[in-house]
Amino acid sequence: MCGIVGYLGKNKAVPVLLAGLHALEYRGYDSAGLAVFDKENVICEKAVGTVTALEDKLVGKKEIGDGLGIAHTRWATHGGVTEINAHPHTDCSNNIYLAHNGIIENYKELREKLNEGRHQFKSETDTEVIAHLIEKIKNENENIPLEEAVRLALGRVQGTYGLVVIDKREPEKIVAARNFSPLIFGLGQDEFIIASDATPIMKFTNKVIYLNDGEIATITPAGYRIQTIEKEVIKRKPEELDWDLESAEKGTFANFMLKEINEEPEAVRNSIRGRINLEEGKAVLGGLADVKEELRNINRLHICACGSAYLAGKVGAYMLEEYAGVPVEIEFGSEMRYRKLIFEKNDVFLAISQSGETADTLASLYEAKEKEILTLGIVNAIGSTASRETDAGVYQHIGPEVAVAATKSFVSQVSILALLTLFLGRKKNMSLVMGQRIAGELQRLPALMDKILTQQDLIKELAEKYSGYDNFLYLGRKYNYPIALEGALKIKEIAYVHAEGYASGEMKHGPIALVDKKFPSIVIVPRDSVYEKNVSNMEELKARGGPVMAVATEGDKDIKQIADDVIYIPKTLEMLTPILSVVPLHLFAYYVAVKRGLNVDRPRNLAKSVTVE
Ligand code: G6P
Repeated sequence: MCGIVGYLGKNKAVPVLLAGLHALEYRGYDSAGLAVFDKENVICEKAVGTVTALEDKLVGKKEIGDGLGIAHTRWATHGGVTEINAHPHTDCSNNIYLAHNGIIENYKELREKLNEGRHQFKSETDTEVIAHLIEKIKNENENIPLEEAVRLALGRVQGTYGLVVIDKREPEKIVAARNFSPLIFGLGQDEFIIASDATPIMKFTNKVIYLNDGEIATITPAGYRIQTIEKEVIKRKPEELDWDLESAEKGTFANFMLKEINEEPEAVRNSIRGRINLEEGKAVLGGLADVKEELRNINRLHICACGSAYLAGKVGAYMLEEYAGVPVEIEFGSEMRYRKLIFEKNDVFLAISQSGETADTLASLYEAKEKEILTLGIVNAIGSTASRETDAGVYQHIGPEVAVAATKSFVSQVSILALLTLFLGRKKNMSLVMGQRIAGELQRLPALMDKILTQQDLIKELAEKYSGYDNFLYLGRKYNYPIALEGALKIKEIAYVHAEGYASGEMKHGPIALVDKKFPSIVIVPRDSVYEKNVSNMEELKARGGPVMAVATEGDKDIKQIADDVIYIPKTLEMLTPILSVVPLHLFAYYVAVKRGLNVDRPRNLAKSVTVE
């Protein structure tokens, strides 16, 4: 949510900032802006719309500015999508420029006080108060350095921020601060690049420093200094990034989403690589080695996640209960954080998050830490907050996911939950033979997924056939109930088509009233333990004239007799079918969105990394 870039170095800042904004655009794309030093001056340009709109404004002006600047791509929270509300924001005298990600909760109160002090506000944003606060502190304390003014200002602010600030009067300095909104800076050759995540940094360097909550960094050509908001000096050495550049570029694919769906088999391969011991029917999870004794005695697992990661967790809950005998509670981050959490002895908390930065998931994680229970993470972004704040965990190892809607991260998370089921199950009652079956089948999955991807033309044809409908019902049962939810979520997110995901059996308690010839259903009906029940539900839909598309197991000719259209997936173990059945649903949503002429990578109103509440 909102992307920040800052640059200080030997090159011109503008092209670096624009490239950085493009890389971060998936975080927000309502409007964009930048501020760069140009000798003694600061030039600030903003535009409503995508980063390209800002770029268009700068045509012929790329040579402006020197080697220091900040930039921002916005996902609006306070104040409409206008040029004035776009960042960077300034103080009254246009000396201070800042870009912010997060929400300042006490902004109204601060704004009123600053207004009384005759500060003139230009925008409707919460962010602008920080610029005026810094200005006020600077006016009251002659010669106070920018970093100290920022520190004092942040002491008065309540809320979340990733922040970069420059001051016209201190031309060789960027001050960056973080509180619950991520900020990283890369250390290149005589240059620094600051960003909300690693994607803009990868081109320059793999040496990065992650700022922690409550920390402020001062970056100058001479180097960097970190201190806390309480003024404690922090010494931190750079860490290495292990993401490669190629995975952050879309190559020959039309967009990132199509690329990432096509990478789903590879994502599962990467997530399970080196983590299966077939002979012993076990999962080898190095990240959990230190806590394996505590896990042996696990009483209950509390899974917390948002969006698609939550739905991956829901599949995991079925697996863990059925095969590892571990009771599971699963809750959205936004709900869990406000619930009275009742943890018992030996309960364990598990956060699932691709970005590792989702605000609601993190807030629940902090709550679990407060209660002193063991906290685990399944996270993709190395060095992200969730990966650092949990006691132990498993990395997804799938490289960056750029399209806003989760695809490859979803299958990867489910495959890791299957590994966790093996890991815990074998420590409890799971037999060697069952362990070997699950392990063997997990290893076969990527090849089976590849096979599904060979049907892209058929799925595209079906998507085009169904693209005119305004509503869909997605149905699934047991392991595939969360997949019905994920299929519906995906088509809502990227194709703006209303869809309801439902447990097949619940359909007759309401949604069936909607069904007629204009209301199609997509039923996930693999040959599993609930097959017959699902078939009956399909019959009920057909009896009411509703068109039905089924996702069924290869060789199941009976389904063709009932459904209007069928997409086949290979046979696998029941608990692993979601990893296969979701692939055609991701493709289906993708092709409906393409047919409707939409920007699939950046659906309206959404953002990939939801770092605000
Ligand atoms: C946003 C994204 C979703 C994602 C969710 C959780 O809503 O658009 O695709 O599933 O956040 O993100 P996380 O990074 O925590 O997995």
